[in-house]
Amino acid sequence: MDTLSDAARDALIWNDWHPVAALDGLRAGRTRLLGVELYVEPGDGSSNVPDGSNAPRVTRLDLGTPCHARARHGVVWACLGEPRADIVAIPETAEPDRRLLHAGAFRVHVSGLRAVENFLDMGHFPFVHTGYLGVEPYTEVAPYRIEHDEANDELYARDCRFYQPRAAMTADAALDVQYVYRVARPYIAVLYKTCPPQPERFDVIALFVQPLDEEWCVAHTVMSYLDDASPDEALRGFQQTIFAQDIKILVNQVPKRLPLTAGSEHPVLADAMSVAYRRWLRARGVTYGTTEGTTDSPSQGAQHG
Ligand SMILES: [Fe+2]
Repeated sequence: MDTLSDAARDALIWNDWHPVAALDGLRAGRTRLLGVELYVEPGDGSSNVPDGSNAPRVTRLDLGTPCHARARHGVVWACLGEPRADIVAIPETAEPDRRLLHAGAFRVHVSGLRAVENFLDMGHFPFVHTGYLGVEPYTEVAPYRIEHDEANDELYARDCRFYQPRAAMTADAALDVQYVYRVARPYIAVLYKTCPPQPERFDVIALFVQPLDEEWCVAHTVMSYLDDASPDEALRGFQQTIFAQDIKILVNQVPKRLPLTAGSEHPVLADAMSVAYRRWLRARGVTYGTTEGTTDSPSQGAQHG
């Protein structure tokens, strides 16, 4: 199957910005995006690129041509087509009292859309993140509110609450944690979560997913935290522990790609955000990384010739 034409057929995904590398400690190297081999380099020979300046370079190895590339929110972003919108806005990452940390790039054998859907799901906390983000018998997902932000065409899940034994590095006791989930792009989700030292503000955890192809992804987790006590390595380690638990679930997803058909996996009330996410993808005609993108008939290709 010609994965390049598959990706180019999905205009929303092809013309979107995607993460391709962590900015912290960026060194020249190869990666892949939407089935295309890329070479990523720091700007101007600098080995450490400050966020927002000294733009990194991204080159397509198949054509030898440069791609649109930028540095923001702790990662290098690339667009293989023509960007129709700016990189996702996360104003919190610019607040001076926050720390921005790239917690790791995890390569997973599953569609990136599956990784986003898993990130939006609170129902698995007590079973998958036992002792951290949940614990039995507190397994019930309380009702929450789904909102569509019309102006930015984003999805929100608001008023989410969950009882967590150890919600963060800074949590020294169990907490009833408040969450807001945001789906900003098909492959980009952001979580706003009660910050234990400053309960009136939120810690921000962004999941930037790099679709290597339709069934492999790299999940970049970036934290923007109000925590000036925990060392970087401790914060990274906590997030890596959580994600390692998620990987065990993700690699067992069948099929690898996300089905968009309503009811295909019998969603329940607790999965309202997952249902809304699939519906939102379907309404936008997203096929890349879904079971809809599986077939590659010549007639479809001809329409784009
Ligand atoms: Fe999880």
